[in-house]
Amino acid sequence: MPHLSEAVGHQSPDKPVGWNTRDLLLYAVGIGAKRDDLSLAFELDRKWAPFPTYPVVLGIKGDGQDVNLFADVVKPRGTPPPGLPQFDPNRVVHGSQSIEILKPLPRESGAGWKLTGRIVGVHENRSGIIVERESTLVDKEGVAYARLFSSEFNLGAKTTGEKFSKVIASQPKGKPIPKDRKPDYVTEDKITPEQAILYRLSGDYNPLHIDSRIGQAAGFGGVILHGLCTFGFVARSIVTAVGNNDPNSLVYYGVKFTSPVKPGDSIQTSIWEVGPGPNGTTELAFETKNLTTGKVVLGSGVAYVRKQQGAKL
Ligand SMILES: *[C@@H]1O[C@H](CO)[C@@H](O)[C@H](O)[C@H]1NC(C)=O
Ligand SMILES: *[C@@H]1O[C@H](CO)[C@@H](O)[C@H](O)[C@H]1NC(C)=O
Ligand SMILES: *[C@@H]1O[C@H](CO)[C@@H](O)[C@H](O)[C@H]1NC(C)=O
Repeated sequence: MPHLSEAVGHQSPDKPVGWNTRDLLLYAVGIGAKRDDLSLAFELDRKWAPFPTYPVVLGIKGDGQDVNLFADVVKPRGTPPPGLPQFDPNRVVHGSQSIEILKPLPRESGAGWKLTGRIVGVHENRSGIIVERESTLVDKEGVAYARLFSSEFNLGAKTTGEKFSKVIASQPKGKPIPKDRKPDYVTEDKITPEQAILYRLSGDYNPLHIDSRIGQAAGFGGVILHGLCTFGFVARSIVTAVGNNDPNSLVYYGVKFTSPVKPGDSIQTSIWEVGPGPNGTTELAFETKNLTTGKVVLGSGVAYVRKQQGAKL
């Protein structure tokens, strides 16, 4: 039987991806851009730019312009990675996600862009198998625009029982939240009851986010918000609070998903400046809570932001 170690380093088939300006605007609204956020939501605004976390939708969206069938999207493509057991697509939990922005995105991709991907880590414990992936967004000349890391936890996946663990590449590690002082910024967002039906139009049409019967059956007590929607909401609130609402201020952003958010919840993000980041950026540590229950929904947050002086837009 092939061993888990064989999966580490495995290259997945390239995924063709593409977007137009309307996709970028829809994403901005999907992550809660408000009517005054013209630098995020109005393509003719002098300061408008594509929101930098947009590439996280492309793995599911691909290069299509119409609705996709989620069941088809999650079907494994190409030959499965050696060494991994068959995973149950209904028992996969998105554990963490990060994105490093290497170059600002163009307002439309044109043809020939792709996500290249490889497995960079596999770990097992008694409850399942964790797979870490790296993907890179490249244009038709092979120029890299963004590097993404994600981890997924395959609940109940059959393991070898030897607590195998191997990593060959990983995202930047952040500093912990300072225990001895209050946050430098606190942002709040009321997520409307309609947010999930809006966010799905960016490409993740998983019925879990619109059909409450599916959420009930899965034990969530109804519809839950896309984890990557919460991810985007918080990235946007950081760009607004720390980056003077300039989308290009965000250089790196990563989180762990710790518990679900429901459409209609209010979230609160506490942000600390924890020192200089690379290349003249400021490093931030942050976490996001359900405002009412106090439960952490995004933890271990790290961001590098180019802070700007000057007038608010
Ligand atoms: C296994 O790892 C997952 C993902 O990090 C974690 O949520 C879970 O609690 C772990 N289970 C055990 C038994 O250690
Ligand atoms: C967030 O808190 C509210 C108010 O207590 C609660 O109704 C909601 O279910 C919580 N959200 C989640 C996903 O637990
Ligand atoms: C810093 O900038 C250099 C040159 O542009 C780049 O190669 C490097 O990846 C950047 N480092 C980070 C952590 O963004």
